[in-house]
Amino acid sequence: MTNQISCYPAWPYVNGPLHLGHVTGTFVPNDIFARYHRLRGDEVLSVTGSDTHGTPVTVTAEEEGTTPRAVAEKYHALAVESLRRLGISLDLYTHTDTENHYRVTQDFFLKLYRDGYIFKQRVPQLYDVDAARFLPDRYVEGECPICHYARARGDQCENCGNLLDPLQLINPRSRFAKPGEMHTLEVRDTEHFYLDLPQFTKPLYEWAQRQTHWKPNVLAFTLNYLRGDGGAENPNGLKPRAITRDLEWGVPIPAEVGDYPDKRIYVWFDAVIGYYSASVEWARDFDLGDAWKKWWTVAPAARSYQFIGKDNIVFHTIIWPALLLGFGDGALPLPYDVPAQEFLNLEGRKISKSAHWAVWVHEFLATYDADPLRYLLATNMPEQADTDFKWSEFVRRNNDELVATWGNLAQRALTFAYKNFDQRVPTPEELTDADRALIEKAERALHAVGDAIDACRFREGIQIAFEVAREANGYLNQTEPWKTLKVNRARAGTSLYVVLRVIDTLKTALYPYLPFSSNALHRQLGYADDLAGTFEVRTIQEATRAHVVLAYQPPQTNARWQPSALKGGEALGEPKALFKKLDDSIVALETAKLGKP
Ligand code: MF3
Ligand code: ZN
Repeated sequence: MTNQISCYPAWPYVNGPLHLGHVTGTFVPNDIFARYHRLRGDEVLSVTGSDTHGTPVTVTAEEEGTTPRAVAEKYHALAVESLRRLGISLDLYTHTDTENHYRVTQDFFLKLYRDGYIFKQRVPQLYDVDAARFLPDRYVEGECPICHYARARGDQCENCGNLLDPLQLINPRSRFAKPGEMHTLEVRDTEHFYLDLPQFTKPLYEWAQRQTHWKPNVLAFTLNYLRGDGGAENPNGLKPRAITRDLEWGVPIPAEVGDYPDKRIYVWFDAVIGYYSASVEWARDFDLGDAWKKWWTVAPAARSYQFIGKDNIVFHTIIWPALLLGFGDGALPLPYDVPAQEFLNLEGRKISKSAHWAVWVHEFLATYDADPLRYLLATNMPEQADTDFKWSEFVRRNNDELVATWGNLAQRALTFAYKNFDQRVPTPEELTDADRALIEKAERALHAVGDAIDACRFREGIQIAFEVAREANGYLNQTEPWKTLKVNRARAGTSLYVVLRVIDTLKTALYPYLPFSSNALHRQLGYADDLAGTFEVRTIQEATRAHVVLAYQPPQTNARWQPSALKGGEALGEPKALFKKLDDSIVALETAKLGKP
């Protein structure tokens, strides 16, 4: 059966380059999922883009002495390059500073406003007298009122993850105050638009209660949030939320509701709408008309997934669904699953841009290949608990697992067949029980890997595949075709055939994780087509501005998620090593770079 699968990684802020944390929590799991479903024959739509708005970007622009748009464009271009080289197969990677996105966001705003889900209210707000401006979100820092972390930001506490309002901070400080300077802060009235979330409590609660397939922590967090202290019988947890800010960067408030030149729509309101606007843009950029609607209709076979980090849960299980309910009048599908990831640390410490404690994706890929990184991130994915990226682990697992277990297996079998069996897959004689057992084991593994990926258990999937690779190595060492060749050529050919067939099946199972090497292996096995598609970086010209997008084009004819059907006699391609061994010296070299600008 064909399903309509849509999957969306969260929109990263473009206030700096992408680091390993970004790609581990969102892009890599999304990509494994998307590639699997395409190969399975499902109709897949996967789009996202750079989150260009909000105080993360404006604060960086002030620090870099430039405009928010310049910051966004610079880091967006870098993100496009990083994602392309990492093989992140999005149908579209755009950004939120586009006319299309402005229009769609304003459509949402107006529809919700007209239907009474958005109201205007005067509210007290922190004001920096010396800088003569209001202090939204990240322009204020202070002590978290909940966990008492000293450097909580006005929008969210990085330590406990709770969403905050600047007025809740204990001893708030303005970001405009230079070190040593004290700015006078006072509370002044300003006017803002609010999303009337309490109107959605009941429908959201009823919906969330049915999502028993969610990760337990995502479901518990969401239900608790909706219950507030009203309990299961009478959930009352939602409060209205301000969806505009005193800023000059962001989507303008629609003229239909008034003239607010100094205010913009709040970044979290527009960013989640990006899932929808980017789907519309994808169809428009490729002249596909209404094709995007196939994934934005309520249908049993249409399922959507949001790949996010755990700090983003509330936006994807409550706020975005509320906007969809209000905008769609029940005709838009809510997320089917929100498999939030925990965090990836780096050498035992939290990744931090300001402390230069990060591995930047573009720098990593300037030196190392994408598949070894994808391998480490997938096997070490923070699915259930925080995990740690260690350079020593990267080297060790590249050498001991990727090269020794998988790369060498493929290389040994292919080279031997290529040299001794006339550059062909040997034609087998009758298979023994052991031969058949290994082939069947690989076939069952393929289906188990698919089921694990479909359930967003990515670590389990790659483990299953590697387990078979280890068994195939054992089989090869036992049958020793390089020895039997001289005494029993037919038997040597048969055991090689078995191994090649297993490799051919494992290549499919591993393709979602390791697309570059699996595609190369597919060619070495003699296939004339490609498993992987191609990337294109394109400039899209709108009426007044142009923007750059990354788009992935899947191959026309695709192998399916099916076990190898090699019969023997097929011509092989030229064998080549799939992975490189890494020298231990890079561990010291790379760790020395951490913490330095
Ligand atoms: N930019 C946000 C972050 O980096 C994520 C936005 S996800 C979206 O935390 F849903 F809002 F798009
Ligand atoms: Zn806190």
